[in-house]
Amino acid sequence: MRFLITGGAGFIGSHLTRFLISEGHKVLILDNFSTGSPKNVDSESGSPVPEIVDGSVCDAELVDRCTREVDAVFHLAAAVGTFTIARKTIESLRTNLHGTEAVVEAACRHRVPLLLSSTSEVYGLNAKTGLTEDDDRVLGSPPHSRWSYAEAKSVDETIAHAHAVEHDLDVVIARLFNTVGPGQSGEYGMVIPRFVRQALAGEPLTVFGDGSQVRCFCHVLDVVPALVALLREPGTRGQVFNVGGSEPVRIDQLARRVNAITGSPGGIVHVPYDAYFEPGYRDTPHRVPDCAKARARIGFRPTRDLDEIIRSVAADQRAHAVIRS
Ligand SMILES: NC(=O)c1ccc[n+]([C@@H]2O[C@H](COP(=O)([O-])OP(=O)(O)OC[C@H]3O[C@@H](n4cnc5c(N)ncnc54)[C@H](O)[C@@H]3O)[C@@H](O)[C@H]2O)c1
Repeated sequence: MRFLITGGAGFIGSHLTRFLISEGHKVLILDNFSTGSPKNVDSESGSPVPEIVDGSVCDAELVDRCTREVDAVFHLAAAVGTFTIARKTIESLRTNLHGTEAVVEAACRHRVPLLLSSTSEVYGLNAKTGLTEDDDRVLGSPPHSRWSYAEAKSVDETIAHAHAVEHDLDVVIARLFNTVGPGQSGEYGMVIPRFVRQALAGEPLTVFGDGSQVRCFCHVLDVVPALVALLREPGTRGQVFNVGGSEPVRIDQLARRVNAITGSPGGIVHVPYDAYFEPGYRDTPHRVPDCAKARARIGFRPTRDLDEIIRSVAADQRAHAVIRS
């Protein structure tokens, strides 16, 4: 089969590209390299390479041309990361709203199945342990730009669901919780690669606030097969599935684990949110998924624990430091 992966040169997209190519499929990537890079999908000695189109998902004609050449679409392109959303709010909204609209409409026109990647951010401040797909969203006031990512992704889900209902679009929505692994950059606000980079440099790890925020991390190599299985699963039209880890951890404890695993003497420093984000920034205190729906439907069960995730990110960063030096 031939797949279009928007955002295929990004972190999750590049792992998905390798997975599909290893299964013998062809991959067409549409990416503008804003946070991704063609280097992420360089071929490993002689293996087939994806075809790459340098362009934006906001270019509806280009999206249409790419979509009509393929059998199915994974829509991963998005403006991501708390730093990106805070510093480039308008551009991020444009990508996350107009880009998704263009992809959904093209998939609908060409009758190709679509997987839309959404985010646990849509749950906002809902701190229930074991968030399920039908739980309420609890978002802060719109002028606080940090909510714009959740707002755009929520509208994306509604656009996709409405096309399933009104136009019979074969679309499934994966609501991803914190996804981590080799190749992820810490530059845009992702916590584990940022902590690991600081630890390997022997610097103190920067914990925002008091560090009591709770998250669940899932290895990208557990997430990617789930995305493929969801796209292939019949009878999921218009449905949402949580995809995330099963080991809740406080961010201050995560920092201590990163220091212990990397052997870093740097310690931890607590930094107020205001030092990096807009005044009045509110972080989600507690975000833990219930993935029973994905488990029942596609047998989703993460196999890599948090220590393994941290070790794999540290090994990747060490390897790249060696290559660069
Ligand atoms: N990594 C996570 O923890 C996580 C959690 C929840 C949801 N997600 C979702 O997963 C998807 C992939 O995220 P990721 O972590 O791989 O991030 P990433 O930044 O590595 O990947 C996003 C990719 O989209 C590309 N892109 C951005 N704007 C574009 C545009 N206008 N046109 C074409 N390409 C564009 C970037 O260059 C990049 O390659 C996103 O939709 C994100 O919202 C990720």
